[in-house]
Amino acid sequence: MKWTSSLAGLASLFTLGKPSFLNSASYKRAQMQLVAAQADSTPVEDAETGITFQSFTNEVDVTYRLALPADASAEKPYDVILQVISPITNGWVAWAWGGSMTYNPLTVVWANGNDAQYSSRQALGYYTPAMYEDATYTVLKGTGSNATHFKLTALCTGCASWPDFDGNVMTLDGASQVNFAYAYSTTPVDEPANQESTFSIHDSVGHWTHDLAAARSDKFSSWVAANKVNTTTYRRPVRIGRFEY
Ligand code: HEM
Ligand SMILES: *[C@@H]1O[C@H](CO)[C@@H](O)[C@H](O)[C@H]1NC(C)=O
Ligand SMILES: *[C@@H]1O[C@H](CO)[C@@H](O)[C@H](O)[C@H]1NC(C)=O
Repeated sequence: MKWTSSLAGLASLFTLGKPSFLNSASYKRAQMQLVAAQADSTPVEDAETGITFQSFTNEVDVTYRLALPADASAEKPYDVILQVISPITNGWVAWAWGGSMTYNPLTVVWANGNDAQYSSRQALGYYTPAMYEDATYTVLKGTGSNATHFKLTALCTGCASWPDFDGNVMTLDGASQVNFAYAYSTTPVDEPANQESTFSIHDSVGHWTHDLAAARSDKFSSWVAANKVNTTTYRRPVRIGRFEY
């Protein structure tokens, strides 16, 4: 009798579909691995910037996008254009470029008024990640916050490459598929205007496979040029003498 009922339980596990302990991305990946190795990202053109990204959206509607130069590979470091879009209900969301929490570049993003703030970090343990200077960001058009979402678009030098424990720089294979990790929390950061703000632990983390090879484009540099933010556009009018500029 026991044997029969546990068999029925086992059968219902399969018929009921998605086991609750798996997030949708890893479940989708597990399903797809039965067929073929396939990435979780798909091509999407962002209307605001005109950039075509490889795009992945997780189970709480946080979207992670990437565009790479045409010759990106594991041979030498390259810049990337990244885009992160999150429902405003998240206090912060993050991208781990090495696919795990520690010892790789982390991009943390949150809303700051009408703007979106990024923070370059690296976790040296399972506690608040430190500031990370080896990745530099140039904020591009397609960055801000509204009533429902915050969105960051940036050029990053040092997101796809970092030194390993021996000091050798390793570069994500831009000609292949790569595993990334995400984390998010609905708790706001302590000081939204400050890139060095402290924040508390994630509500959840997860992993996905991004198709870097398909994210490559020979339009990369023209996309960067077309979306450079004109500092004068954003300068507040200041009155000096009789001229306003
Ligand atoms: C105050 C900030 C944070 C705290 C206190 C924190 C703490 C922790 C702790 C305690 C774990 C569990 C470790 C274990 O499995 O034993 C963990 C796992 C993890 N965290 Fe964080 N975390 C923070 C921020 C971040 C950020 C910004 C990311 C970026 C994506 C991140 C990504 C991950 C991932 C992917 C895991 C799964 C295990 C691994 O990859 O090593 N965490 N974190
Ligand atoms: C708010 O921002 C999101 C993300 O950029 C966008 O999809 C949405 O259309 C915006 N909403 C409004 C009302 O502009
Ligand atoms: C920046 O300013 C120049 C003129 O000074 C203008 O032609 C260009 O369109 C502006 N760029 C953006 C992204 O607004």
